[in-house]
Amino acid sequence: MRINVDQLMSARTETEPVLHMKGLSVDFITDNGWMRVVDGIDLSIPTGSIVGVVGESGSGKTVTSLAAMGLLPSSTSRVSGSIRVAGRELVGLTDRELADVRGTEVSMIFQEPRRSLDPAFSVGSQIAEVVRRHDRVGRTAAWARAVAMLDAVGIDNAATRAHAYPHEFSGGMCQRVMLAIAMVCKPKLLIADEPTTALDVTVQAQMLDLMREVQQQFDVSILFITHDLGVVAQMCDSVNVMYAGQVIESAPVRDLFLSPQHPYTQGLLDAIPDHRDRSAPLKAIPGAVPAPWDWPQSCRFAPRCPHSGPECEAETIPLEEIASTESVRAVRCVRANDLVLEGITE
Ligand SMILES: Nc1ncnc2c1ncn2[C@@H]1O[C@H](COP(=O)(O)OP(=O)(O)OP(=O)(O)O)[C@@H](O)[C@H]1O
Ligand SMILES: [Mg+2]
Repeated sequence: MRINVDQLMSARTETEPVLHMKGLSVDFITDNGWMRVVDGIDLSIPTGSIVGVVGESGSGKTVTSLAAMGLLPSSTSRVSGSIRVAGRELVGLTDRELADVRGTEVSMIFQEPRRSLDPAFSVGSQIAEVVRRHDRVGRTAAWARAVAMLDAVGIDNAATRAHAYPHEFSGGMCQRVMLAIAMVCKPKLLIADEPTTALDVTVQAQMLDLMREVQQQFDVSILFITHDLGVVAQMCDSVNVMYAGQVIESAPVRDLFLSPQHPYTQGLLDAIPDHRDRSAPLKAIPGAVPAPWDWPQSCRFAPRCPHSGPECEAETIPLEEIASTESVRAVRCVRANDLVLEGITE
């Protein structure tokens, strides 16, 4: 029997995760030479799922997502490892090839939508421009798609509002416009970097609902970056916790909340304020995420960890799968088993 290689390849890519990062590292050039800020990230997003990335400021969330968008400038940064989007390797593509991938395969929305919109053009024309850049359609057809997309993201009276300028929209409405721009060419992967952090809580809830609707309607997978574990609990199927440039725990959301395995994850969960018990003292993790030039050689959390021992200073700590659980979980802690046995975690 003759094997059709194209069929074989397409069958393989269909079963591949929408995003698959393997050993992704990012270095920036500084006055003192190259400095690593993201260090060996392994992360996968199965088709149709929402995967969260959480971690304190400076842990490397944005740099990781910019790498997946091919948006890091090659003059000042170096990306190594593998980033496959819908089966296609992005590391090593030219800027031109990456520009083609953006919008059609992968899109991104950011924390500050107003900064990403051009104040000099109507919102409709900014969406239509994206359509015309990727698809060979005329102005009228591109405008019609822009209006339909504004309608899909919940902008009332879209045909008229498409002529409005960004300053005529509220922050929440601008984020809807950004979502329209990101989704208009139907990408397979949407990266949302703190998309609701700048919005007040009621608008945030509407935006989260909208993103879930969009995920269903457009069959898109989402990488959801946030520092808010409450948002993760509402939105995500699984979650990766980042610390000092590494993933230190990954698990389905329910498992992570019920039985965190890494002391840092436990610390993050303990730090969520309880609005029903206002007398309870707030628990903060002492210290701060170390800057990349101060990363410890072994466990990067050890200096802040209440459970660290001599074994934590041994050498590089790998991210290891937890064999005993039914779901796919991994943790980067040599004491994880001991902590479970001692009843400190789980
Ligand atoms: N262009 C750059 N040159 C040098 N270092 C950089 C550059 N961009 C980011 N960094 C450093 O990389 C590290 C990770 O930054 P990143 O913006 O990814 O953090 P983050 O997890 O997104 O934080 P936040 O929650 O504040 O958004 C930080 O130490 C930051 O200072
Ligand atoms: Mg960030």
